[in-house]
Amino acid sequence: MVKKFVATVLASALIGGSACAATLNVGTEATFAPFEFMDEKTKEVTGFDMEIIEAVAKATGDKVRLHNMGFDGLIPSLQAGIIDVTVAAMTITPERQKRVDFTEPYYQSGLTILIRKADAAKYTDLKAFEGTRLCAQIGTTGAMMANRVKDAKVTEFNSITEAFMELKAGGCAAVINDKPVVDYYLVRRGDDSVMTLPQVFDAENYGMAVKKGNKALLDKLNEGLKEIKANGEYDRIYAKWFGTKQ
Ligand code: ARG
Repeated sequence: MVKKFVATVLASALIGGSACAATLNVGTEATFAPFEFMDEKTKEVTGFDMEIIEAVAKATGDKVRLHNMGFDGLIPSLQAGIIDVTVAAMTITPERQKRVDFTEPYYQSGLTILIRKADAAKYTDLKAFEGTRLCAQIGTTGAMMANRVKDAKVTEFNSITEAFMELKAGGCAAVINDKPVVDYYLVRRGDDSVMTLPQVFDAENYGMAVKKGNKALLDKLNEGLKEIKANGEYDRIYAKWFGTKQ
């Protein structure tokens, strides 16, 4: 028993090279298909982000332990040391960069506005939403944009799914959210009662975030990202979830 334990420790030390294989405590918020969401069949969190972090961890010789939590809890959990890294379709923003460090961008995104089809004539641009009720997910760039609309009343939901439901129920004029997530929802749910405005707002880049100053982990993650981009893993995962290359 003891021998076996020693052998295992030795083996993992060797595989990890100079640094021992570590367990990465990864934080996410898994209502954000196709980036992170619950697979109804397996009851496990799946998606583009999850496959990217698994591939990065494989490249760096680490293991992933997932922590699913509220989106607004991710940065505080990093700061408290409860998680090591967030992989949560999180946009790199100057405001967040003051609080955490981001890896190189790993996905290019943008915001879109989802409305009920019945309202198509009423809402044609952002200005039309002044004084209306808007829905978004709590703490997201979509919520930030909604809060910049003059006199808008913004309701921030824990999950984006709730925001979609509220829109359908007539509780708000629009949902502001990441375009790839809205597009996925429209196609997957085959929802005919809602549509997006043609404009895409705010070019955004997703990055993984670590606690400010955790340079060792940041360098390691960037190395891993570089490797999976070089060895074709990134492209394979991208094609699986989005069909075409970015
Ligand atoms: N990209 C947006 C942001 O950073 C939304 C991210 C929401 N992610 C999630 N896993 N729910 O604010």
